[in-house]
Amino acid sequence: MTENSKLAEIGVVGLAVMGSNLARNFAHKGHTVAVYNRSFSKTQALMDNHGSEGTFIPSETIEEFVASLEKPRRAIIMVQAGPATDAVINQLADAMEEGDIIIDGGNSLYTDTIRREKEIAERGLNFVGAGISGGEEGALNGPAIMPGGPAKSWEALGPLLESIAANVDGTPCVTHIGPDGAGHFVKMVHNGIEYADMQVIGEAYQLLRYGAGMTPAEISETFKTWNEGDLDSYLIEITAEVLSQVDAETGKPLIDVIVDAAGQKGTGRWTVKAALDLGIPVTGIGEAVFARALSGASAQRAATVGNLPSGELTTLESLGVDKATFVEDVRRALYASKLVAYAQGFDEIKAGSAEYNWGVDPRDLATIWRGGCIIRAKFLNRIREAYDTNPDVESLLLDPYFKGELEGLVDSWRRVVIAATQIGQPIPVFASSLSYYDSLRAERLPAALIQGQRDFFGAHTYKRVDKEGTFHTLWSGDRTEIEA
Ligand code: ATR
Repeated sequence: MTENSKLAEIGVVGLAVMGSNLARNFAHKGHTVAVYNRSFSKTQALMDNHGSEGTFIPSETIEEFVASLEKPRRAIIMVQAGPATDAVINQLADAMEEGDIIIDGGNSLYTDTIRREKEIAERGLNFVGAGISGGEEGALNGPAIMPGGPAKSWEALGPLLESIAANVDGTPCVTHIGPDGAGHFVKMVHNGIEYADMQVIGEAYQLLRYGAGMTPAEISETFKTWNEGDLDSYLIEITAEVLSQVDAETGKPLIDVIVDAAGQKGTGRWTVKAALDLGIPVTGIGEAVFARALSGASAQRAATVGNLPSGELTTLESLGVDKATFVEDVRRALYASKLVAYAQGFDEIKAGSAEYNWGVDPRDLATIWRGGCIIRAKFLNRIREAYDTNPDVESLLLDPYFKGELEGLVDSWRRVVIAATQIGQPIPVFASSLSYYDSLRAERLPAALIQGQRDFFGAHTYKRVDKEGTFHTLWSGDRTEIEA
Protein backbone atom coordinates (compact mmCIF):
# COMPACT_ATOMS: atom_id res chain seq x y z
CA MET A 1 0.00 0.00 0.00
CA THR A 2 1.27 3.48 -0.77
CA GLU A 3 0.91 6.19 1.82
CA ASN A 4 -1.83 7.88 -0.15
CA SER A 5 -3.92 4.81 -0.80
CA LYS A 6 -7.35 4.81 0.71
CA LEU A 7 -7.82 3.06 4.02
CA ALA A 8 -10.71 0.66 4.54
CA GLU A 9 -13.76 1.67 6.56
CA ILE A 10 -14.35 -1.91 7.58
CA GLY A 11 -12.46 -5.18 7.56
CA VAL A 12 -13.62 -8.78 7.39
CA VAL A 13 -11.54 -11.64 8.80
CA GLY A 14 -12.57 -15.14 7.69
CA LEU A 15 -13.63 -15.45 4.09
CA ALA A 16 -15.62 -18.66 4.01
CA VAL A 17 -19.13 -18.33 2.60
CA MET A 18 -20.63 -16.02 5.24
CA GLY A 19 -17.53 -13.84 5.55
CA SER A 20 -16.96 -13.33 1.84
CA ASN A 21 -20.63 -12.58 1.25
CA LEU A 22 -20.61 -10.03 4.04
CA ALA A 23 -17.46 -8.43 2.62
CA ARG A 24 -19.10 -8.24 -0.81
CA ASN A 25 -22.23 -6.72 0.73
CA PHE A 26 -20.11 -3.93 2.29
CA ALA A 27 -18.34 -3.40 -1.04
CA HIS A 28 -21.64 -3.26 -2.94
CA LYS A 29 -22.75 -0.48 -0.60
CA GLY A 30 -19.73 1.60 -1.57
CA HIS A 31 -17.47 0.87 1.39
CA THR A 32 -13.80 0.12 1.03
CA VAL A 33 -13.36 -3.31 2.60
CA ALA A 34 -10.18 -4.84 3.97
CA VAL A 35 -10.22 -8.62 3.70
CA TYR A 36 -8.09 -11.29 5.34
CA ASN A 37 -8.26 -15.05 5.70
CA ARG A 38 -5.82 -17.38 7.47
CA SER A 39 -5.14 -19.22 4.23
CA PHE A 40 -4.62 -16.72 1.46
CA SER A 41 -6.28 -18.97 -1.12
CA LYS A 42 -9.76 -17.89 0.07
CA THR A 43 -8.75 -14.22 -0.11
CA GLN A 44 -7.40 -14.80 -3.58
CA ALA A 45 -10.60 -16.58 -4.63
CA LEU A 46 -12.70 -13.66 -3.40
CA MET A 47 -10.54 -11.20 -5.34
CA ASP A 48 -10.54 -13.34 -8.48
CA ASN A 49 -14.27 -13.98 -8.51
CA HIS A 50 -15.67 -10.79 -7.03
CA GLY A 51 -12.84 -8.25 -6.83
CA SER A 52 -14.47 -6.10 -9.48
CA GLU A 53 -17.69 -5.69 -7.47
CA GLY A 54 -16.23 -2.93 -5.29
CA THR A 55 -13.11 -1.71 -3.52
CA PHE A 56 -11.32 -4.42 -1.58
CA ILE A 57 -7.93 -4.26 0.13
CA PRO A 58 -6.67 -7.85 0.42
CA SER A 59 -3.94 -8.69 2.94
CA GLU A 60 -1.77 -11.72 3.46
CA THR A 61 -1.01 -11.05 7.13
CA ILE A 62 -3.14 -9.84 10.00
CA GLU A 63 -0.70 -6.95 10.63
CA GLU A 64 -1.06 -5.78 7.05
CA PHE A 65 -4.83 -6.15 7.36
CA VAL A 66 -4.97 -4.04 10.53
CA ALA A 67 -2.73 -1.41 8.93
CA SER A 68 -5.16 -1.13 6.01
CA LEU A 69 -8.04 0.00 8.25
CA GLU A 70 -8.95 3.62 9.05
CA LYS A 71 -9.17 4.56 12.73
CA PRO A 72 -10.95 3.65 14.87
CA ARG A 73 -10.36 0.35 13.16
CA ARG A 74 -13.39 -1.85 12.70
CA ALA A 75 -12.91 -5.53 11.93
CA ILE A 76 -15.62 -8.17 11.74
CA ILE A 77 -14.59 -11.73 12.49
CA MET A 78 -16.46 -14.43 10.56
CA VAL A 79 -14.71 -17.63 11.59
CA GLN A 80 -15.82 -20.77 13.37
CA ALA A 81 -17.25 -20.22 16.86
CA GLY A 82 -15.09 -21.36 19.77
CA PRO A 83 -11.29 -21.57 19.84
CA ALA A 84 -10.86 -20.26 16.26
CA THR A 85 -12.72 -17.09 17.22
CA ASP A 86 -10.57 -16.67 20.36
CA ALA A 87 -7.41 -17.14 18.30
CA VAL A 88 -8.40 -14.49 15.77
CA ILE A 89 -9.58 -12.04 18.45
CA ASN A 90 -6.17 -12.29 20.12
CA GLN A 91 -4.26 -11.81 16.87
CA LEU A 92 -6.33 -8.74 16.08
CA ALA A 93 -6.05 -7.33 19.59
CA ASP A 94 -2.24 -7.72 19.45
CA ALA A 95 -2.11 -5.69 16.25
CA MET A 96 -4.75 -3.08 17.11
CA GLU A 97 -4.67 0.12 19.18
CA GLU A 98 -6.81 1.65 21.89
CA GLY A 99 -10.29 2.55 20.72
CA ASP A 100 -10.35 0.06 17.85
CA ILE A 101 -13.37 -2.23 17.55
CA ILE A 102 -13.38 -5.99 17.13
CA ILE A 103 -16.74 -7.39 16.04
CA ASP A 104 -17.50 -11.08 16.30
CA GLY A 105 -20.16 -11.78 13.70
CA GLY A 106 -20.15 -15.55 14.20
CA ASN A 107 -22.59 -17.69 16.14
CA SER A 108 -20.73 -17.41 19.44
CA LEU A 109 -22.19 -18.53 22.73
CA TYR A 110 -23.25 -15.41 24.64
CA THR A 111 -21.28 -16.39 27.74
CA ASP A 112 -18.13 -16.48 25.59
CA THR A 113 -19.05 -13.02 24.32
CA ILE A 114 -19.44 -11.71 27.88
CA ARG A 115 -15.98 -13.10 28.75
CA ARG A 116 -14.35 -11.78 25.58
CA GLU A 117 -15.78 -8.32 26.02
CA LYS A 118 -14.26 -8.10 29.50
CA GLU A 119 -10.89 -9.35 28.29
CA ILE A 120 -10.81 -7.01 25.31
CA ALA A 121 -12.01 -4.00 27.34
CA GLU A 122 -9.09 -4.58 29.72
CA ARG A 123 -6.79 -4.15 26.74
CA GLY A 124 -8.36 -0.77 25.89
CA LEU A 125 -10.20 -2.08 22.84
CA ASN A 126 -13.92 -2.42 22.16
CA PHE A 127 -15.57 -5.73 21.52
CA VAL A 128 -18.95 -6.25 19.93
CA GLY A 129 -20.61 -9.64 19.69
CA ALA A 130 -23.07 -9.36 16.83
CA GLY A 131 -25.59 -12.01 15.83
CA ILE A 132 -26.05 -12.09 12.07
CA SER A 133 -28.99 -13.96 10.60
CA GLY A 134 -30.08 -14.70 7.08
CA GLY A 135 -27.69 -17.37 5.90
CA GLU A 136 -25.48 -16.89 2.84
CA GLU A 137 -28.12 -15.04 0.91
CA GLY A 138 -28.80 -12.65 3.78
CA ALA A 139 -25.10 -11.96 4.32
CA LEU A 140 -24.81 -10.96 0.68
CA ASN A 141 -28.01 -9.01 0.17
CA GLY A 142 -29.10 -7.85 3.60
CA PRO A 143 -29.08 -9.78 6.87
CA ALA A 144 -30.73 -9.01 10.19
CA ILE A 145 -27.97 -7.93 12.55
CA MET A 146 -28.09 -8.05 16.35
CA PRO A 147 -25.06 -6.25 17.79
CA GLY A 148 -24.30 -6.21 21.50
CA GLY A 149 -21.32 -4.55 23.15
CA PRO A 150 -20.88 -1.02 24.50
CA ALA A 151 -23.22 1.73 23.31
CA LYS A 152 -20.28 3.87 22.17
CA SER A 153 -19.22 1.15 19.72
CA TRP A 154 -22.69 1.28 18.22
CA GLU A 155 -22.10 4.96 17.41
CA ALA A 156 -19.08 4.00 15.34
CA LEU A 157 -20.68 0.93 13.82
CA GLY A 158 -24.34 1.77 13.45
CA PRO A 159 -24.28 3.57 10.09
CA LEU A 160 -22.01 0.92 8.55
CA LEU A 161 -24.22 -1.94 9.71
CA GLU A 162 -27.39 -0.10 8.73
CA SER A 163 -26.04 0.26 5.21
CA ILE A 164 -25.72 -3.52 4.69
CA ALA A 165 -28.70 -4.79 6.73
CA ALA A 166 -32.03 -5.80 5.28
CA ASN A 167 -34.58 -3.03 5.19
CA VAL A 168 -38.32 -3.24 5.82
CA ASP A 169 -40.51 -0.21 5.10
CA GLY A 170 -37.48 2.07 5.36
CA THR A 171 -36.33 0.63 8.70
CA PRO A 172 -32.99 -1.21 8.70
CA CYS A 173 -33.02 -4.64 10.34
CA VAL A 174 -30.30 -3.77 12.83
CA THR A 175 -30.19 -1.98 16.15
CA HIS A 176 -28.05 -1.98 19.27
CA ILE A 177 -29.50 -4.80 21.35
CA GLY A 178 -27.71 -4.14 24.64
CA PRO A 179 -24.33 -4.49 26.34
CA ASP A 180 -21.82 -7.38 26.13
CA GLY A 181 -23.54 -10.69 25.28
CA ALA A 182 -27.02 -9.28 24.54
CA GLY A 183 -26.66 -9.52 20.75
CA HIS A 184 -25.48 -13.10 20.70
CA PHE A 185 -28.06 -14.13 23.31
CA VAL A 186 -30.86 -12.70 21.23
CA LYS A 187 -29.47 -14.31 18.06
CA MET A 188 -29.32 -17.63 19.91
CA VAL A 189 -32.99 -17.40 20.91
CA HIS A 190 -33.83 -16.31 17.35
CA ASN A 191 -32.30 -19.58 16.17
CA GLY A 192 -34.18 -21.52 18.84
CA ILE A 193 -37.45 -19.98 17.65
CA GLU A 194 -36.40 -20.91 14.11
CA TYR A 195 -36.07 -24.55 15.22
CA ALA A 196 -39.61 -24.49 16.64
CA ASP A 197 -41.01 -22.71 13.60
CA MET A 198 -39.45 -25.29 11.26
CA GLN A 199 -40.70 -28.15 13.40
CA VAL A 200 -44.33 -26.95 13.48
CA ILE A 201 -44.22 -26.65 9.71
CA GLY A 202 -42.79 -30.17 9.63
CA GLU A 203 -45.60 -31.46 11.83
CA ALA A 204 -48.21 -29.89 9.56
CA TYR A 205 -46.54 -31.55 6.58
CA GLN A 206 -46.49 -34.90 8.39
CA LEU A 207 -50.23 -34.71 9.06
CA LEU A 208 -51.17 -33.62 5.55
CA ARG A 209 -48.93 -36.26 4.01
CA TYR A 210 -49.49 -39.27 6.22
CA GLY A 211 -52.84 -38.31 7.74
CA ALA A 212 -54.73 -36.67 4.87
CA GLY A 213 -52.78 -38.64 2.25
CA MET A 214 -51.85 -35.60 0.17
CA THR A 215 -48.91 -35.62 -2.25
CA PRO A 216 -45.90 -33.32 -1.75
CA ALA A 217 -47.03 -31.33 -4.79
CA GLU A 218 -50.51 -30.86 -3.30
CA ILE A 219 -49.04 -29.89 0.05
CA SER A 220 -46.76 -27.41 -1.69
CA GLU A 221 -49.85 -25.74 -3.15
CA THR A 222 -51.47 -25.70 0.30
CA PHE A 223 -48.41 -23.98 1.78
CA LYS A 224 -48.49 -21.41 -1.02
CA THR A 225 -52.05 -20.59 -0.06
CA TRP A 226 -51.13 -20.43 3.62
CA ASN A 227 -48.34 -18.03 2.73
CA GLU A 228 -50.97 -15.53 1.67
CA GLY A 229 -52.53 -15.33 5.13
CA ASP A 230 -51.47 -15.07 8.78
CA LEU A 231 -48.62 -17.52 8.24
CA ASP A 232 -46.98 -15.40 5.51
CA SER A 233 -43.27 -16.00 6.14
CA TYR A 234 -39.98 -16.94 4.56
CA LEU A 235 -40.07 -20.43 6.10
CA ILE A 236 -43.53 -21.21 4.73
CA GLU A 237 -42.46 -19.86 1.34
CA ILE A 238 -39.37 -22.07 1.12
CA THR A 239 -41.35 -25.05 2.40
CA ALA A 240 -43.59 -24.78 -0.67
CA GLU A 241 -40.46 -24.65 -2.84
CA VAL A 242 -38.85 -27.69 -1.23
CA LEU A 243 -42.06 -29.72 -1.51
CA SER A 244 -42.52 -28.96 -5.20
CA GLN A 245 -38.98 -30.05 -6.09
CA VAL A 246 -38.70 -33.25 -8.11
CA ASP A 247 -35.53 -35.36 -7.93
CA ALA A 248 -33.90 -35.39 -11.37
CA GLU A 249 -32.35 -38.80 -10.84
CA THR A 250 -35.41 -40.77 -9.74
CA GLY A 251 -38.32 -38.60 -10.80
CA LYS A 252 -39.64 -38.81 -7.23
CA PRO A 253 -40.49 -35.83 -5.07
CA LEU A 254 -37.12 -34.68 -3.67
CA ILE A 255 -38.52 -34.82 -0.11
CA ASP A 256 -38.88 -38.61 -0.49
CA VAL A 257 -35.22 -39.18 -1.31
CA ILE A 258 -33.83 -36.96 1.48
CA VAL A 259 -32.80 -38.94 4.59
CA ASP A 260 -35.14 -37.93 7.42
CA ALA A 261 -32.40 -37.18 9.96
CA ALA A 262 -32.19 -33.46 10.81
CA GLY A 263 -28.83 -31.86 11.50
CA GLN A 264 -28.08 -29.12 13.99
CA LYS A 265 -25.18 -26.86 14.77
CA GLY A 266 -26.03 -26.19 18.41
CA THR A 267 -27.81 -22.86 18.77
CA GLY A 268 -31.17 -24.56 19.43
CA ARG A 269 -29.57 -26.67 22.13
CA TRP A 270 -27.95 -23.57 23.66
CA THR A 271 -31.33 -21.82 23.71
CA VAL A 272 -32.82 -24.68 25.70
CA LYS A 273 -29.84 -24.93 28.06
CA ALA A 274 -30.00 -21.21 28.78
CA ALA A 275 -33.76 -21.46 29.29
CA LEU A 276 -33.28 -24.27 31.79
CA ASP A 277 -30.84 -22.10 33.74
CA LEU A 278 -33.22 -19.15 33.64
CA GLY A 279 -36.20 -21.34 34.57
CA ILE A 280 -38.19 -20.39 31.48
CA PRO A 281 -40.29 -23.09 29.81
CA VAL A 282 -39.45 -23.02 26.12
CA THR A 283 -41.29 -26.26 25.44
CA GLY A 284 -41.73 -25.60 21.71
CA ILE A 285 -38.01 -25.05 21.15
CA GLY A 286 -37.11 -27.92 23.47
CA GLU A 287 -39.36 -30.37 21.64
CA ALA A 288 -38.01 -29.14 18.31
CA VAL A 289 -34.41 -29.78 19.42
CA PHE A 290 -35.37 -33.22 20.76
CA ALA A 291 -37.27 -34.02 17.57
CA ARG A 292 -34.10 -33.40 15.57
CA ALA A 293 -32.13 -35.58 17.96
CA LEU A 294 -34.70 -38.38 17.69
CA SER A 295 -34.72 -38.16 13.90
CA GLY A 296 -30.96 -38.70 13.90
CA ALA A 297 -30.99 -41.61 16.33
CA SER A 298 -30.66 -44.07 13.46
CA ALA A 299 -29.76 -47.20 15.43
CA GLN A 300 -32.65 -46.70 17.84
CA ARG A 301 -35.10 -45.98 15.03
CA ALA A 302 -33.93 -49.03 13.09
CA ALA A 303 -34.75 -51.10 16.15
CA THR A 304 -38.10 -49.48 16.94
CA VAL A 305 -39.77 -48.81 13.57
CA GLY A 306 -42.50 -51.41 13.10
CA ASN A 307 -41.48 -53.01 16.35
CA LEU A 308 -43.49 -51.20 19.02
CA PRO A 309 -47.22 -51.73 19.59
CA SER A 310 -49.27 -48.94 18.05
CA GLY A 311 -52.54 -49.70 19.79
CA GLU A 312 -55.65 -49.49 17.68
CA LEU A 313 -55.15 -46.80 15.08
CA THR A 314 -57.74 -45.29 12.87
CA THR A 315 -57.81 -43.09 9.77
CA LEU A 316 -59.19 -39.62 9.20
CA GLU A 317 -61.79 -41.20 6.91
CA SER A 318 -63.10 -43.56 9.55
CA LEU A 319 -63.10 -40.66 12.00
CA GLY A 320 -65.42 -38.95 9.54
CA VAL A 321 -63.04 -36.02 9.20
CA ASP A 322 -63.57 -34.04 6.05
CA LYS A 323 -60.24 -33.39 4.30
CA ALA A 324 -60.72 -29.68 3.64
CA THR A 325 -61.74 -29.10 7.26
CA PHE A 326 -58.73 -31.07 8.44
CA VAL A 327 -56.33 -29.04 6.28
CA GLU A 328 -57.72 -25.81 7.74
CA ASP A 329 -57.56 -27.26 11.26
CA VAL A 330 -53.90 -28.14 10.71
CA ARG A 331 -53.18 -24.60 9.54
CA ARG A 332 -54.74 -23.26 12.70
CA ALA A 333 -52.88 -25.75 14.92
CA LEU A 334 -49.64 -24.67 13.25
CA TYR A 335 -50.45 -21.01 13.84
CA ALA A 336 -51.36 -21.55 17.49
CA SER A 337 -48.27 -23.66 18.19
CA LYS A 338 -46.08 -21.09 16.46
CA LEU A 339 -47.59 -18.37 18.61
CA VAL A 340 -46.72 -20.35 21.73
CA ALA A 341 -43.13 -20.90 20.54
CA TYR A 342 -42.62 -17.19 19.87
CA ALA A 343 -44.24 -16.21 23.18
CA GLN A 344 -41.88 -18.59 24.96
CA GLY A 345 -38.84 -17.32 23.06
CA PHE A 346 -39.67 -13.73 23.97
CA ASP A 347 -40.12 -14.84 27.60
CA GLU A 348 -36.58 -16.22 27.51
CA ILE A 349 -35.21 -12.98 26.08
CA LYS A 350 -37.01 -11.01 28.77
CA ALA A 351 -35.58 -13.28 31.47
CA GLY A 352 -32.06 -13.20 30.01
CA SER A 353 -32.19 -9.43 29.76
CA ALA A 354 -33.29 -9.14 33.40
CA GLU A 355 -30.63 -11.61 34.57
CA TYR A 356 -27.78 -9.77 32.84
CA ASN A 357 -29.17 -6.22 33.04
CA TRP A 358 -29.17 -5.79 29.28
CA GLY A 359 -32.29 -3.67 28.95
CA VAL A 360 -33.33 -5.46 25.76
CA ASP A 361 -36.46 -3.93 24.22
CA PRO A 362 -38.58 -6.73 22.73
CA ARG A 363 -40.01 -4.24 20.20
CA ASP A 364 -36.57 -3.88 18.67
CA LEU A 365 -36.41 -7.59 17.97
CA ALA A 366 -39.87 -7.76 16.48
CA THR A 367 -38.77 -4.87 14.29
CA ILE A 368 -35.41 -6.14 13.07
CA TRP A 369 -36.57 -9.74 12.63
CA ARG A 370 -39.13 -8.64 10.04
CA GLY A 371 -36.48 -8.77 7.32
CA GLY A 372 -33.21 -10.45 6.45
CA CYS A 373 -33.41 -13.30 8.93
CA ILE A 374 -34.76 -16.82 8.57
CA ILE A 375 -37.81 -16.24 10.78
CA ARG A 376 -38.85 -13.10 8.91
CA ALA A 377 -42.61 -12.98 8.78
CA LYS A 378 -45.57 -10.65 8.64
CA PHE A 379 -46.51 -12.02 12.03
CA LEU A 380 -43.61 -10.09 13.61
CA ASN A 381 -45.44 -6.84 12.88
CA ARG A 382 -48.17 -8.12 15.18
CA ILE A 383 -45.63 -8.92 17.87
CA ARG A 384 -44.22 -5.42 17.62
CA GLU A 385 -47.71 -3.97 17.93
CA ALA A 386 -48.34 -6.18 20.94
CA TYR A 387 -45.26 -4.82 22.72
CA ASP A 388 -46.12 -1.29 21.60
CA THR A 389 -49.49 -1.67 23.28
CA ASN A 390 -48.01 -3.12 26.45
CA PRO A 391 -44.24 -3.60 26.77
CA ASP A 392 -44.76 -5.46 30.07
CA VAL A 393 -47.40 -7.92 28.86
CA GLU A 394 -47.03 -11.09 30.97
CA SER A 395 -47.19 -13.32 27.90
CA LEU A 396 -47.57 -12.45 24.24
CA LEU A 397 -50.56 -14.80 24.29
CA LEU A 398 -52.39 -12.24 26.44
CA ASP A 399 -52.07 -9.45 23.91
CA PRO A 400 -55.61 -8.58 22.80
CA TYR A 401 -54.87 -9.29 19.13
CA PHE A 402 -53.28 -12.68 19.77
CA LYS A 403 -55.94 -13.56 22.32
CA GLY A 404 -58.53 -12.89 19.63
CA GLU A 405 -56.60 -15.05 17.21
CA LEU A 406 -56.39 -17.88 19.74
CA GLU A 407 -60.13 -17.80 20.18
CA GLY A 408 -60.43 -18.73 16.51
CA LEU A 409 -57.66 -21.34 16.67
CA VAL A 410 -58.03 -23.31 19.83
CA ASP A 411 -60.88 -25.63 18.80
CA SER A 412 -59.02 -26.64 15.65
CA TRP A 413 -55.83 -27.07 17.64
CA ARG A 414 -57.53 -29.50 20.01
CA ARG A 415 -59.13 -31.43 17.15
CA VAL A 416 -55.76 -31.80 15.42
CA VAL A 417 -54.00 -33.04 18.56
CA ILE A 418 -56.79 -35.58 19.10
CA ALA A 419 -56.85 -36.74 15.48
CA ALA A 420 -53.06 -37.02 15.26
CA THR A 421 -53.06 -39.15 18.38
CA GLN A 422 -55.79 -41.39 16.98
CA ILE A 423 -54.01 -41.91 13.69
CA GLY A 424 -50.66 -42.36 15.44
CA GLN A 425 -48.71 -39.46 13.90
CA PRO A 426 -46.11 -37.64 16.00
CA ILE A 427 -46.76 -33.97 16.76
CA PRO A 428 -44.41 -33.13 19.64
CA VAL A 429 -44.66 -29.35 19.33
CA PHE A 430 -48.39 -29.16 18.48
CA ALA A 431 -49.22 -31.34 21.49
CA SER A 432 -46.79 -29.91 24.03
CA SER A 433 -47.71 -26.35 23.05
CA LEU A 434 -51.35 -27.14 23.70
CA SER A 435 -50.45 -28.59 27.09
CA TYR A 436 -48.40 -25.51 27.88
CA TYR A 437 -51.37 -23.37 26.88
CA ASP A 438 -53.73 -25.38 29.07
CA SER A 439 -51.21 -25.17 31.92
CA LEU A 440 -51.23 -21.39 31.65
CA ARG A 441 -55.04 -21.44 31.75
CA ALA A 442 -55.40 -23.96 34.56
CA GLU A 443 -56.77 -22.68 37.84
CA ARG A 444 -55.10 -25.49 39.75
CA LEU A 445 -51.95 -27.31 38.67
CA PRO A 446 -50.68 -30.61 40.08
CA ALA A 447 -47.81 -28.65 41.57
CA ALA A 448 -49.74 -28.74 44.87
CA LEU A 449 -49.33 -32.50 44.84
CA ILE A 450 -45.64 -32.17 44.00
CA GLN A 451 -45.21 -29.88 47.00
CA GLY A 452 -46.98 -32.50 49.12
CA GLN A 453 -44.66 -35.20 47.85
CA ARG A 454 -41.59 -33.03 48.41
CA ASP A 455 -42.73 -32.29 51.93
CA PHE A 456 -43.36 -36.01 52.52
CA PHE A 457 -39.96 -37.32 51.45
CA GLY A 458 -37.72 -34.36 52.13
CA ALA A 459 -39.51 -32.01 54.54
CA HIS A 460 -39.25 -29.35 51.86
CA THR A 461 -42.32 -27.54 53.30
CA TYR A 462 -45.21 -25.90 51.48
CA LYS A 463 -47.30 -22.73 51.54
CA ARG A 464 -51.03 -22.69 52.17
CA VAL A 465 -53.67 -21.00 50.06
CA ASP A 466 -55.50 -19.65 53.10
CA LYS A 467 -52.78 -18.15 55.31
CA GLU A 468 -49.25 -16.74 55.30
CA GLY A 469 -46.29 -18.81 56.41
CA THR A 470 -44.42 -22.00 55.56
CA PHE A 471 -45.70 -25.35 56.74
CA HIS A 472 -44.66 -28.97 57.18
CA THR A 473 -46.78 -32.01 57.96
CA LEU A 474 -45.26 -34.53 60.36
CA TRP A 475 -45.71 -37.36 57.86
CA SER A 476 -43.88 -40.03 59.82
CA GLY A 477 -45.35 -38.87 63.12
CA ASP A 478 -48.92 -38.06 63.95
CA ARG A 479 -49.43 -36.13 60.68
CA THR A 480 -50.24 -32.88 62.34
CA GLU A 481 -49.11 -29.73 60.62
CA ILE A 482 -46.45 -27.46 62.09
CA GLU A 483 -45.28 -24.04 61.02
CA ALA A 484 -41.77 -24.46 59.64
P1 ATR B 1 -18.39 -21.90 6.81
O1 ATR B 1 -19.29 -22.79 7.63
O2 ATR B 1 -19.09 -20.73 6.18
O3 ATR B 1 -17.46 -22.63 5.87
P2 ATR B 1 -16.81 -21.72 9.21
O4 ATR B 1 -16.49 -23.16 9.13
O5 ATR B 1 -17.68 -21.20 10.31
O6 ATR B 1 -17.39 -21.18 7.84
O7 ATR B 1 -15.46 -20.89 9.23
C1 ATR B 1 -14.42 -21.19 8.38
C2 ATR B 1 -13.47 -19.98 8.46
O8 ATR B 1 -12.82 -19.96 9.72
C3 ATR B 1 -12.39 -20.04 7.41
O9 ATR B 1 -12.19 -18.73 6.96
C4 ATR B 1 -11.20 -20.54 8.21
O10 ATR B 1 -9.96 -20.16 7.69
P3 ATR B 1 -9.21 -21.12 6.64
O11 ATR B 1 -9.78 -20.81 5.30
O12 ATR B 1 -7.78 -20.70 6.74
O13 ATR B 1 -9.42 -22.54 7.07
C5 ATR B 1 -11.43 -19.83 9.52
N1 ATR B 1 -10.70 -20.42 10.62
C6 ATR B 1 -10.94 -21.58 11.23
N2 ATR B 1 -10.07 -21.78 12.24
C7 ATR B 1 -9.27 -20.70 12.28
C8 ATR B 1 -8.17 -20.29 13.11
N3 ATR B 1 -7.76 -21.04 14.14
N4 ATR B 1 -7.56 -19.12 12.83
C9 ATR B 1 -7.98 -18.36 11.81
N5 ATR B 1 -9.02 -18.67 11.00
C10 ATR B 1 -9.65 -19.82 11.24
